[in-house]
Amino acid sequence: MNVKRLLNTEAKEQEVVVKGWIRTFRSNRFLAISDGSTVHTIQAVIDFEKHDDSLLKRLNTGAAVEVKGKLVESQGKGQKVEVLVSDFTILGDADADEYPLQPKRHSLEFLREKAHLRFRTNTFGSVFRLRHAMTFAVHKFFNDRDYFNIHTPIITGSDAEGAGEMFHVTNHDLNAIPKNDKGEVDYENDFFGKETNLTVSGQLEAELAATALSKVYTFGPTFRAENSNTSRHLAEFWMIEPEVAFNDINDNMDLAEEFLQYLCRYALENNRDDVEFLNQREIQENKSKPQQERPELNLIERLEFVVNNTFERITYTEAIEVLQRSKPYKKKKFKYPVEWGKDLQSEHERFLVEKHYNKPVIITSYPASFKAFYMRSNEDEKTVAAMDVLFPGIGEIVGGSQREERLEVLQQKCLDFNIPEEHIWWYLETRKFGTCVHSGFGLGFERLMMFVSGMGNIRDVIPFPRTPGNAEF
Ligand code: 4AD
Ligand code: MG
Repeated sequence: MNVKRLLNTEAKEQEVVVKGWIRTFRSNRFLAISDGSTVHTIQAVIDFEKHDDSLLKRLNTGAAVEVKGKLVESQGKGQKVEVLVSDFTILGDADADEYPLQPKRHSLEFLREKAHLRFRTNTFGSVFRLRHAMTFAVHKFFNDRDYFNIHTPIITGSDAEGAGEMFHVTNHDLNAIPKNDKGEVDYENDFFGKETNLTVSGQLEAELAATALSKVYTFGPTFRAENSNTSRHLAEFWMIEPEVAFNDINDNMDLAEEFLQYLCRYALENNRDDVEFLNQREIQENKSKPQQERPELNLIERLEFVVNNTFERITYTEAIEVLQRSKPYKKKKFKYPVEWGKDLQSEHERFLVEKHYNKPVIITSYPASFKAFYMRSNEDEKTVAAMDVLFPGIGEIVGGSQREERLEVLQQKCLDFNIPEEHIWWYLETRKFGTCVHSGFGLGFERLMMFVSGMGNIRDVIPFPRTPGNAEF
């Protein structure tokens, strides 16, 4: 039995075995053992007179141990049951002078440099149990609604987003890259016989599947070589991309809202211990911050708020109008211009979500000029049926759209965006044969994780973050 199950077992002096790692050892008598199955530890009580000193000295934080003994009702407070140890073995020592994790609060920055050990802290234990639960909840949400999970390729020849921020995949000797007659890299003789990259999105392939299986989703790693060293960007992140035949932009918004509410509710209902631990952690952390930097709502309140409130839905044009009427705009507090045709910056998004509407906001109908080629043109021919979902404290958590299903319009878009038709002939063929209205979106899994865990830096919700200049571990 793991610690989680043991703690929920009725104590009847039955013999139990616990294997785990020592968190603390106090009064030469009480061992707190964690096996990671829950945020709680189990207390093992040692009769120190039975053991010699040399063994007791090895009961250091971080050591791996096996204890055997009787499960009894605890005399002390803080736990219902504890183990009266009859037998214990140290499976792996942890030298007290060298082990970097002491039973005290370490900074998140320090723990990032110890990412190989940070799983052993309460905070990261909670974060990664929660990450697992959210993964499971994503699959459950879609499975319960008759969606099919599609594994789209990680190595790809196409650039779905057109942002050009891709990592190349090549088998060429980088010290002697072969060139063709034109002096360009000779991809014809490369491994795949063409230029290839790590994917930035599974969407284009998901669309192919959706035009046959109707409701599909992907959940895979995506890679972006954008050089943004922010607390919300990773070079390798996970994305969930549902794609649904016959859904228009409004159905797409409904789906995104239902999905996000479901995931927040799932965390509250099924991971209460970890969410409560992270909630307390945040409250402690905020005590050292000035009043104006503390969030108005705590983590649990924020999750409940999303579950219980509908999202605001506005167009990009309305967003610009709201921003132009705003105090920070009039007082010239925004760093970036607010002008129809310019993309919204995070300072604008934050104002809309955190100050003006004070709830999640879905913005639709963005100018075509800064959105991807596949988004459906609106009647005005200036905007596209795009949607971004913005969350408090996070900014953009979801990006999606209704797709351009009209062949000629899409072919014109390819020309406008300089996308050679021979690169995506297969994508265009879905518009040639049995084309239909369809829509989808991408949820950044780590952005979701930031929201449900309350962690402020995206590097702290993925086990081994990949960011500019960092691929350690
Ligand atoms: O808005 P994006 O670029 O949309 C797409 O990739 C579409 N193909 C999705 C679709 O319609 N199927 O990315 C989707 C989401 C963003 O809203 C954000 O949450 C996350 O992915 N994201 C990142 N997360 C972490 N690090 C980065 N560098 C991210 N870039 C995007
Ligand atoms: Mg986006």
